Amino acid sequence: MTSSSIPLIASADLTPTELRQILRANLTACRQSTLGLINVLTDAEFSQQAHPDFSPVGWHLGHIAFTESLWLLEYLKRDKCAYPQYQRLFAADGLPKTERQVLPSLAEILTFMETIRDRTLTYLETAPLHQQLRLWQWILQHESQHAEIATYILALHRQEQPISTAPCTAEEIAIPLSASKDNMVFVASGEFPLGHESVEALDNEQPQRAVQLTDYWIDRTPVTVAEYSEFVAAGGYQNSQWWHPQGWHWVAANEIMQPLYWRPEAEWANTPVCGVSWYEADAYACFVGKRLPTEAEWERAAQWQPATGTVQPMPWGDAPATVHRGNFDGERGGVTPVGEFPAGRSAVGCDDMLGNVWEWTSSWFDGYPGFTPYPYADYSQAYFDKRHRVLRGGSWATRRWVLRPTFRNWYQPEVRQLFAGFRCVLSA
Ligand code: AVJ
Ligand code: FE
Repeated sequence: MTSSSIPLIASADLTPTELRQILRANLTACRQSTLGLINVLTDAEFSQQAHPDFSPVGWHLGHIAFTESLWLLEYLKRDKCAYPQYQRLFAADGLPKTERQVLPSLAEILTFMETIRDRTLTYLETAPLHQQLRLWQWILQHESQHAEIATYILALHRQEQPISTAPCTAEEIAIPLSASKDNMVFVASGEFPLGHESVEALDNEQPQRAVQLTDYWIDRTPVTVAEYSEFVAAGGYQNSQWWHPQGWHWVAANEIMQPLYWRPEAEWANTPVCGVSWYEADAYACFVGKRLPTEAEWERAAQWQPATGTVQPMPWGDAPATVHRGNFDGERGGVTPVGEFPAGRSAVGCDDMLGNVWEWTSSWFDGYPGFTPYPYADYSQAYFDKRHRVLRGGSWATRRWVLRPTFRNWYQPEVRQLFAGFRCVLSA
């Protein structure tokens, strides 16, 4: 099977042999993508923190193997812990992030990853997969997420000197633009099923429930560099009026003047703004007289098919994600101009819903009513603290195992080291 022909999800109606084949092919493809990160890794990038909120790349590699061992070999197979010496270092709740820089060598970590993977694949041959599918699918998504975070860390290490925009003087500060519906699409009021309950759905996507939404307009594409430039040029970063009070405090305390991955040159004008915090996204939305979408508004714009009154698994329908439907899986190595993938357009007419940049929503990360933690309480629940905002849609670096409209990512509102942008909405 070629990588694009492997079904991503091993569904329970397949035979044990088919399940084994599909899981093996996905585990291997996902690992290949993870190991792609280390081809050009320097020693410093391997073990140093690029930012206090992010562990070194080497830690993520060890943690991927540790987690696979914990859940597939210790929990399912009932093996003893194979590498107890790594427990404290690589467990999610072991050492604080700042103490994860003293690592085994890259060679040792690669051996660790390989040893665990060999045992996992051996176990796969005889494991009662029909009862275990959810956890195997979870492991693929766990590795996918850590590999994407490692991509952020590499970008931080390799970040060129930021191009600074001269702060404007008071006279240049513009009045707000009046909200324009150009380049927005209309989504009619109605009920739709929020969330997802298939075998790959994470705990925080479940249970699915009917949600009623009123009419709204949503941007056809993520906000571009050209559009965001108007905010920067109008003194957006020098004027508290657009900002959430905590956002303004954050801007002032950190002397924030522009997005982290700011590319004001003409060749980037039509790419989505990337490297903004929730505060910056919220301030821009306020500046143009709009607001950020709720996660329900975002999800409906991605999945709702007005003609049939149903939700589609992907914005474009049922077909799996391929390179002509969007910018993901690291295929393009960075952001691409918005609207470049008409074959990936959602039924209501939105482009770039999956891939390119993660999109901030106005929603706090919280459990859906009836939430049940899986596979451990603190996977999602620890973040239901009104300190984390939901992001949707995935970035250019998002692996295909976590690329779906119902997938919820979450970070604190001041985090800007993700490949994140946003789009805006207007209530009709
Ligand atoms: C959903 C990306 C915020 O990195 O903390 C990985 C994913 N959870 N291992 C995170 C996760 C446990 C999570 N994010
Ligand atoms: Fe983890």
